[in-house]
Amino acid sequence: MRKLLLIGVSGLLGNKIYQSNKDRYEIYGTYNFHKPKLINTLRLDVTERNDVSKLLNDIKPDLVIDAHALSNVDYCELHHEDAWKINVEGTKNVAEACKVNGCKYIFISTDYVYDGYKTTTYSEKDKPHPINYYGKTKFIAEKVIEALDMDYIIVRTAVLFGVSSSFGKLSFPSWVIQQLKLKNKIKVVIDQYSNPTLVDNLGEFLLYLYEKDRFGVFNISGKDNISRFEFSKMLAKEFNLDERLIEPITTAELNQPAKRPQKVSLNISKAEKASGVHALGLEEAIKIFKISYKSDYK
Ligand SMILES: NC(=O)c1ccc[n+]([C@@H]2O[C@H](COP(=O)([O-])OP(=O)(O)OC[C@H]3O[C@@H](n4cnc5c(N)ncnc54)[C@H](OP(=O)(O)O)[C@@H]3O)[C@@H](O)[C@H]2O)c1
Repeated sequence: MRKLLLIGVSGLLGNKIYQSNKDRYEIYGTYNFHKPKLINTLRLDVTERNDVSKLLNDIKPDLVIDAHALSNVDYCELHHEDAWKINVEGTKNVAEACKVNGCKYIFISTDYVYDGYKTTTYSEKDKPHPINYYGKTKFIAEKVIEALDMDYIIVRTAVLFGVSSSFGKLSFPSWVIQQLKLKNKIKVVIDQYSNPTLVDNLGEFLLYLYEKDRFGVFNISGKDNISRFEFSKMLAKEFNLDERLIEPITTAELNQPAKRPQKVSLNISKAEKASGVHALGLEEAIKIFKISYKSDYK
């Protein structure tokens, strides 16, 4: 069995990949602050260079999926030093250790490397131009990896959703459902468009790309481009909750510290062709999400 090391197994994506692939790979995972109840998990702070290289040297994985990040976009905007340390230097430490140990490396980047000014879809050939600090750190991390001359897969993805986070951090849809179940009114932004991505589907893409030896930069997301507001309404319908509790709010009214790209729609045809995996439409993704939501929150 091939060895897979998941950096950030306590996160939403890392945890899902662990759960879905534990019979196919010998899996090891790392967490920083939130120890998950999974076997073969170890604490690792990616900003500690020596610890990263020792861990890679001890485990000698065939593949590393690096799903760590300081992913709170507003926090990154207000704390540049922390964001740089974790998103740029931490990534450099992991990628360099992969190169030294000859293991393949998958890095999870973001659709926030694009500015959102384009009216058609973004392909990998479009030049990134991040408009917030989080996006900037992820793009610089991509550049650091590309300069290393190794086998890497860089994946630009969007609004992840799923229920697999082991420490109870709610993804956006889980939060919407929780609030609507409590009959709380919520305000959801109406003028930010992206392609929500079910973590189950993204995990499948990543491993098929690796297994087929397809390297490079890939845009990967769900098929449908939608506003957060419309996404919430779809969730309310599927879960039989009162959609009248969802109120629209504009980006200007929200006044968040970090700017958001207004509309990023990813062109995912390169990844679909290379992996043989198909991106899910949102309706289908929500149905799959509902099944795992029900078993996790019985
Ligand atoms: N969520 C989205 O909508 C979205 C959209 C586009 C791209 N992405 C990217 O997709 C990836 C996965 O996102 P996610 O939502 O699954 O992330 P997440 O749930 O926020 O989890 C982040 C993970 O990173 C770990 N981590 C943070 N700082 C660390 C450090 N200094 N050393 C080691 N580990 C550290 C966390 O560990 P502890 O919790 O144990 O501290 C956690 O396991 C990230 O790279 C993110 O940038 C996410």
